[in-house]
Amino acid sequence: MALSFIKKIADFLSKKTGQNKEDLILLIEHPPSLELGNYSFPCFGTAKVLKKNPDEVARELALQFPVSKYFKKAEAKGPYLNFFIDPLSYQTELISEILNQKENYGASNIGQNKTILIEYSSPNIAKPFHVGHFRATIIGNSLKKIHEALGYKVIGINYLGDWGTQFGKLIVAYKKWGAKAQLKKDPIKYLNSLYIQFHSEAEKNPSLEDEARLWFKKCEEKNKEALALWKEFRELSLKEFKKIYAELDVHFDEISGESLYDEKIAPTISYIKSKIQTQISEGALIINLEKYKMPPALLLRKDGASLYLTRDIAALLDRYNRYHFDKILYVVGDTQNLHFQQLFKLIELMGNPWAKECHHIAFGQIRLKDQKMSTRKGTAILLEEVLDKSIELIAKIIEEKNASLKGKQEVAQKVGSGAIIFADFSSRRIKNVTFDWDVILNPDGDTGPYVLYTYARASSILRKAQGKAPTSFLSSDLIGELTGESTLLESQEEQELMKALECFPKTLTAAAHDFEPSYIATTLLDVSKLFNRFYHEHRVIQEDEALQASRLKLVSATRQVLKNGLNLLGIQEVEEL
Ligand code: ARG
Repeated sequence: MALSFIKKIADFLSKKTGQNKEDLILLIEHPPSLELGNYSFPCFGTAKVLKKNPDEVARELALQFPVSKYFKKAEAKGPYLNFFIDPLSYQTELISEILNQKENYGASNIGQNKTILIEYSSPNIAKPFHVGHFRATIIGNSLKKIHEALGYKVIGINYLGDWGTQFGKLIVAYKKWGAKAQLKKDPIKYLNSLYIQFHSEAEKNPSLEDEARLWFKKCEEKNKEALALWKEFRELSLKEFKKIYAELDVHFDEISGESLYDEKIAPTISYIKSKIQTQISEGALIINLEKYKMPPALLLRKDGASLYLTRDIAALLDRYNRYHFDKILYVVGDTQNLHFQQLFKLIELMGNPWAKECHHIAFGQIRLKDQKMSTRKGTAILLEEVLDKSIELIAKIIEEKNASLKGKQEVAQKVGSGAIIFADFSSRRIKNVTFDWDVILNPDGDTGPYVLYTYARASSILRKAQGKAPTSFLSSDLIGELTGESTLLESQEEQELMKALECFPKTLTAAAHDFEPSYIATTLLDVSKLFNRFYHEHRVIQEDEALQASRLKLVSATRQVLKNGLNLLGIQEVEEL
């Protein structure tokens, strides 16, 4: 993953200090400015090991470092040891690394032999897919891709909200007022309206609530009629969700749901009881968590019905038994912080050391600047509406700017959803995001369209070059042509762009470490800005053939990095825009 220069530096340092080479590789940094060299090693840790002063360590190591054709010099700057690589060697190695590795550039094997479970999306049956589920879906999808790139075995799970007393209400409402034809036509909207109707009728007629309880009990007892209706609601809803997943190109290895764990409630409760002290409080089964500054965990209701938390305990134990995962991530909004704190604490109290490998990947809320977009006055913002609107606005922009574009429908689709996905990653996940159409669709702003335009620009330069020279810069036999003679790209713009491309693998590792796909979005913006500056300042297609070849390679490498980053976020690139 790291360029050979870093490995050679680590070799040298390891020999001189006795420290572990792999650890040293992780310590080597990219200095903030090019004047400070290509790499920098902070000597603080080594100084501790050697019981010396860091400045002194840096000076001594600098003196001992052997210069060569590749390494021009090593220089101590305070406690830092800075390394200067021969620019042409650096350029050649970096660019060929990217162009050889193609879609694997940035990948590594740090996750080898490790299994990670990621639960994401998890919408509720018979309820609209709102933007909160969208965030869960795309953050989870991106974390899955990032971890796969790092060599982990990843299992993506969609855990549907398909159980609970609300299904009793739905059955009652459907039996009383429902119509099959309407259900088939637009299942989720229709079921949701029945649900709303149930609540307003129940205000006038509270006995409906008892009926609903009865019907949910029937579900739990596996009554045929009750289960058949429930199953129909579930299947129709899932079919709708699958349309969204297809549109976003999101896939799961496992679609499970809360209903699956209803059967395991009895054994789960006895298991819990055998491990932790439970209590009965007002008829309900609870666990006191006062010691941990949390409200009590509710396991069974007074009427014996299972609860969300209990089903989650059963599901987590089941997942561990099946996969023996090294890590599990729950991508769920921050409104459920307490729920997951309780879940993980209970798992820990039951004596499972792997409780510390359970992570709640929380995220903030999406708001719309233009509140008129929301269906039910600022509450549920529906994904479909947001996506459709974005695609429609992009289609309009294309119509104005480039009406003759080939396949514009498909392009609008990709750029429109890409804009929404990118906007979601434009700050750390825990922050609330406000969708402001003027901001997130702006092709000149820090946006998805900006990165996509940059990618398309790189492609178009290569297409143009392809028309001019015999070299196919887009095809896979590209490399053979590119190994020819190179001219040094020495301008500040080119050097900085290369440095940004080199940092990409590091971004990936950091994104996995902090569960933050947003880091990749930030890097994509940096690379795009540097690329556009380079393109603005320097002619790529020109008379000097060697220089042109070198610049084309840089364009091609940039294009590859943009593609890899976009794809890791779950965004598909377009060749022309
Ligand atoms: N279906 C839930 C909701 O929409 C999210 C489920 C989160 N996952 C879990 N294991 N509890 O609020």
